[in-house]
Amino acid sequence: MDFHIKDLSLAEDGKEKIEWAERRMPVLGRIRERFRKEKPLSGVRIACCLHITTETANLARTLKEGGAQVVLCASNPLSTQDDVAASIVKHFDIPVFSIKGEDEDTYYTHIMKALSFFPNITMDDGADLVSSLHMIAHKKFDILHRRLKEWAEGLKEKERRSLFENVIGGTEETTTGVIRLKSMEKNGILLFPIIAVNDAYTKHMFDNRYGTGQSTIDGILRATNILLSGSKVVVSGYGWCGKGVAMRAKGMGAHVIITEVDPIRALEAHLDGYEVMEMKKAARIGDVFITTTGDINVIRKEHFEVMKDGAIVGNSGHFNVEIDIGALEEMKTEKRKLRGHLEEYVLKDGRRIYLVGEGRLVNLACAEGHPSEVMDMSFSNQALCVEYMWKNGEKLEKKVYSVPKEIDEEIAYLKLSSYGIKIDKLTKEQKVYLSSWELGT
Ligand code: NAI
Repeated sequence: MDFHIKDLSLAEDGKEKIEWAERRMPVLGRIRERFRKEKPLSGVRIACCLHITTETANLARTLKEGGAQVVLCASNPLSTQDDVAASIVKHFDIPVFSIKGEDEDTYYTHIMKALSFFPNITMDDGADLVSSLHMIAHKKFDILHRRLKEWAEGLKEKERRSLFENVIGGTEETTTGVIRLKSMEKNGILLFPIIAVNDAYTKHMFDNRYGTGQSTIDGILRATNILLSGSKVVVSGYGWCGKGVAMRAKGMGAHVIITEVDPIRALEAHLDGYEVMEMKKAARIGDVFITTTGDINVIRKEHFEVMKDGAIVGNSGHFNVEIDIGALEEMKTEKRKLRGHLEEYVLKDGRRIYLVGEGRLVNLACAEGHPSEVMDMSFSNQALCVEYMWKNGEKLEKKVYSVPKEIDEEIAYLKLSSYGIKIDKLTKEQKVYLSSWELGT
């Protein structure tokens, strides 16, 4: 089996962590049991570009139990858990191409390896796999994709075409990926249907909010070990992730400030009890800055220029573009690594700015990503959406689709039942009442 990981001898540690996650993912466990019996994914080849974590290991096992052949590569150069990657290879016989800290070239070489598996279904977290495939299809590469371009140019035309002609459809895990895919659909270049897993309620309401909320704070604390209580934490973006981060920072005693560009979300933040202001003002008073926008250069030169000595900046949005690291690099006179995931930038006037996790998503770079309990729902959506795509993909158009409501609700019911919670059902009378307009008082 072809694979590329850090060290196979780490596999035993990884296995124990995967088992621990498995115990906290009961919904995915039930799906895996059904998949084992019914083999609904028999014959399908799935390439997954995901964070290589314990939860991903359990998802990959589930797909394999369903009869699929699976290959994994990383969706971020810093998020791989090397021991988990080793265990996926050794104990579950699933090829993995991913090493924590890999450079851009290796990152895209690994994506190439996953593509050369000729998948029928793609699974992405951030759309790097699908966009790479589209670059090959449309023969349009940017400078980052030198390796991808060389590889595609070396393929025979028949091979190149079958790379994307084999694909029935794909799924996408995160907000940023969905934005990229919708842009491809809008530009008329999307080659196959995609299900936006992120848009399921049982995904973004829980994963983005409670998952990112808790694990982002975890990442900041593991990287810095600062006391949050009493500090001023600036959260940029009051979307699903930002709400979670703000809520948890507040819960730990921080004074939370929100920056936004959307007037409705800014208003929501204000009425939720946070201070809302422009970044140019927040930059002067914040102790810790966390971006969760999916946008570019949210914290940039003009903000670094007025930050306090000792300010800490980190990002939890998908790509490492939210903090303008290039500006910091230009402004610095000295730079050193202080702790595992903390870099100190000394500016001309002597002020020090601390960058956490190279500006990559801090919860995965500096901690372990989302707790398994929320990934249980996200990855159950993935497993059921792959099954749906395999059954229905050929009937779908080249569009970005929402997760079918039945799948979303099934996952919510299964999750509730795993907590031992039962809820009421509508009576016949209530159903009639709720669907009629004639009945008033
Ligand atoms: P969202 O769309 O719900 O929220 C983003 C918010 O940022 C919006 O309210 C938008 O108005 C605001 N925003 C955009 N530009 C801004 C700017 N310049 N300044 C201030 N606010 C700005 O998106 P969601 O779901 O919260 O995701 C945010 C990012 O986090 C995405 O990149 C997503 O892929 C990523 N993500 C990261 C996870 C992680 O594990 N760290 C997990 C889930 C999502």
